[in-house]
Amino acid sequence: MGRPARHPRRDRRADPDPRRPGPALSTTPGPPATPGLPEGTRPSPNIWHHTDTYEVENHAFDPDGLVEAAIERLGGWAGRDVLDLGCGTGFHLGRLARTAASVTGVEPHPDLRAIATRRTRRTAGVTVLGGTAQALPLPDASIDVVHARWAYFFGPGCEPGLAELARVARPGAAAYVIDNDASRSTFGAWFARGFPEHPAPEVKREFWAAHGWRREPVLTRWSFDSPADLEAVVRIELPGPAAEQALAEHRAAGGGTEVEYAVDVWWRRF
Ligand SMILES: C[S@@+](CC[C@H](N)C(=O)[O-])C[C@H]1O[C@@H](n2cnc3c(N)ncnc32)[C@H](O)[C@@H]1O
Repeated sequence: MGRPARHPRRDRRADPDPRRPGPALSTTPGPPATPGLPEGTRPSPNIWHHTDTYEVENHAFDPDGLVEAAIERLGGWAGRDVLDLGCGTGFHLGRLARTAASVTGVEPHPDLRAIATRRTRRTAGVTVLGGTAQALPLPDASIDVVHARWAYFFGPGCEPGLAELARVARPGAAAYVIDNDASRSTFGAWFARGFPEHPAPEVKREFWAAHGWRREPVLTRWSFDSPADLEAVVRIELPGPAAEQALAEHRAAGGGTEVEYAVDVWWRRF
């Protein structure tokens, strides 16, 4: 598969949605139950409370398709049965479905799941199910490729989800987990400063290596339509003071609509 097509850029300006306290991602292993959501659901206030702004972020991330190119080099998903775990609003489902045999999105949050279902209702081969990484609603040995992007798998504490992946993976299946690399890049530095409690990069690397996963580092970027979009996204991804500090540094460095962004694609075969 070649470079992924860009999504249409119209109608995706960030709403000036209200600021809410709280980190962008829960990083604590074994989170307490979230009322109304399945046990083990990790609070994700960025997409739960700022869904439109998160959509802007998804459009802005990795405009050159470097993450997908990395996954493609490692084996890709063409012709395979794919699981998008923690699929949120289903942003990635359509693109996965272009070449996959089938795509199953699993998402614990019912409102996001409804958006994902609606957005893929005319896309052949896509199914959206309720569930969590720790209790997948899938039979044993039924999946060829797992894709999980900023969802549940943030290092130590995600062992139950890893066991579930091993259960649903067919022999020879592959899994790809996309997560921030806080050791590199402009956004990585912002993230490390905003979430000092998040497992350190070396802790995550030891964790994944101990479970037989390998690291494919990707240095990519955010590319926004406007500085206002960039600011809105920074403010849903970082706690208040860290967001303002990051934006002040960004302006002092010349501003603009681009931010360097490093991720790790953690991957393994079963
Ligand atoms: C930051 S969002 C990313 C959504 C999507 N992967 C994307 O890239 O647009 C994290 C998602 O993981 C979901 N999630 C939270 N806890 C989960 C769990 N235990 N298992 C699977 N998904 C979970 C959240 O509801 C949220 O939709």
